[in-house]
Amino acid sequence: MNAPCVLTVASLSPYYLEGLQAMGVEVLDRLHERDPEAFARQAHRIRAVAAAGDSLVPAALIAQLPALEVISVMGVGYDGVDLPAALERGVCVGHTPGVLNDDVADLALALMLAVSRGIVGADAHVRAGRWHTAGRPLQRKMSGARLGLVGMGRIGRAIAQRALAFGMQVAYTSRQQKVDLPWAFYADVAELAAWSDFLVLITPGGAGTRHLVDARVLAALGPKGYLINVARGSVVDEAALVQALANGTIAGAGLDVFEREPAVPEALWSMEQAVLTPHIGSATHETRQAMAALACDNLRARLAGQAMPTPVPECAQRAGR
Ligand code: 8YV
Repeated sequence: MNAPCVLTVASLSPYYLEGLQAMGVEVLDRLHERDPEAFARQAHRIRAVAAAGDSLVPAALIAQLPALEVISVMGVGYDGVDLPAALERGVCVGHTPGVLNDDVADLALALMLAVSRGIVGADAHVRAGRWHTAGRPLQRKMSGARLGLVGMGRIGRAIAQRALAFGMQVAYTSRQQKVDLPWAFYADVAELAAWSDFLVLITPGGAGTRHLVDARVLAALGPKGYLINVARGSVVDEAALVQALANGTIAGAGLDVFEREPAVPEALWSMEQAVLTPHIGSATHETRQAMAALACDNLRARLAGQAMPTPVPECAQRAGR
């Protein structure tokens, strides 16, 4: 019997590729982009799509793959997958929740400290030899400040736990209030922003949260407030954010995600009050290995006709799990 054929739609993590190779599947590396004619010849053989959290799997691609059974995303976010199109075709979608909570939460705290303590500018100050002639302006204390979380899933909770160790006060907004949590719940994101010193975004991307943080929310956060985004670039109106940073409407921002990655607005490049990282929330060896293992387990299970360990909630509901 022929080995199952898997199409990659992103430049996949080497750990994911190694896992696929160890599984003995045939990997068609982004064939639809690299060689559309060869893709047209092979499309009927493709039973699985291997994707990253920020990959696009549009309805048009799904429609070109008549034998498709599974889309296995190596990432917790799957907003790039056209889920209605996949569900309609009975294609199962898997993702990798849980294993990246620590890393993303760690990065959120790192960005909070980096922007509020001016660490990137301080580093540049030393490297440029300026310490001999000038001091650094005093910065803002983070311990004891107010943390507003937009999103209170697994990673939101991990961020809150860390913030408590800094003596911070925590409040949050999410689709629904979580009855098991002691922290203040705000139904309105602008009200949460007005209360917060640090507004940290860790909500899923997609149409439901597009530009949730707009000029109004940034104005509410105010000139002493910091915005941290470790969710998706689409959650923030990036043009409004650039303006808010330029005008001093907010104090600063720590951004790991952007609206049009890998493009980052040039206006941000020279702003010391913005700390910019290239979507590295889960980018450690330990976590990427764990994510790759789970993405492979999901793919393998489905191709063998078994239940995936971690289907996306919409697929789990369909399967009655
Ligand atoms: C990575 C992510 O960018 O988990 C997600 O949703 O966006 C990140 O962890 C990516 O998925 C790595 O493949």
